[in-house]
Amino acid sequence: MGMNLRRLQNLLRFQSIKPPVTFDDTQHGADLFDLKVAGNIYTRIMNPTSSVLEQRLAEMEGGIGALALASGMSAITYAIQTIAETGDNIVSISQLYGGTYNLFKHTFPRQGIDVRMASYDDFEGIEKLIDDKTRAVFCETIGNPAGNVVDIKRLADIAHKHGVPVIVDNTVATPYLCRPFDFGADIVHWWAWHLYWWHHY
Ligand SMILES: Cc1ncc(COP(=O)(O)O)c(C=O)c1O
Repeated sequence: MGMNLRRLQNLLRFQSIKPPVTFDDTQHGADLFDLKVAGNIYTRIMNPTSSVLEQRLAEMEGGIGALALASGMSAITYAIQTIAETGDNIVSISQLYGGTYNLFKHTFPRQGIDVRMASYDDFEGIEKLIDDKTRAVFCETIGNPAGNVVDIKRLADIAHKHGVPVIVDNTVATPYLCRPFDFGADIVHWWAWHLYWWHHY
């Protein structure tokens, strides 16, 4: 279940948008910094240009919010470091983009986050790897470079049975071909360059 191409193209036309960055008055500024009202405070946390992009990315995927980061690898790192800490583990499909594989096999274990892997079609094996320290189940919609297509619904049903969220890397499919939230995913990320310059043609 993907997204209408015309709508997707319209969402990608955001170059001319220049929303204002202002405080209405000093009280408004104070309230923003106290987090009493939502708005733009500091560019690393939120800024109008990123917000427009984030809102549109969320709409493309059918999500409730988004966070734009400098790279796909930082998106995966942010997502997992937000929900897992030393002593926790992630269960992942083993057919992954090389950078993600290295992050999971080498970097996260050095930080005390164990990543357990099973093949994308070994649902029994995946379920056996989940325990009370599992903080997420991870997959790519279409594996890069293997091209395997993951049954996200079945994966999500297993993960949710154990109260665990599913993180999906939707880089290769893009929301044009598939919107993983429609199949039960909880967090979706992608390397936007794919959508803008590659799959878009
Ligand atoms: C499936 C997939 N996920 C993540 C990434 C990482 O994206 P970035 O190079 O922006 O860190 C890539 C890059 O090729 C990718 O193909």
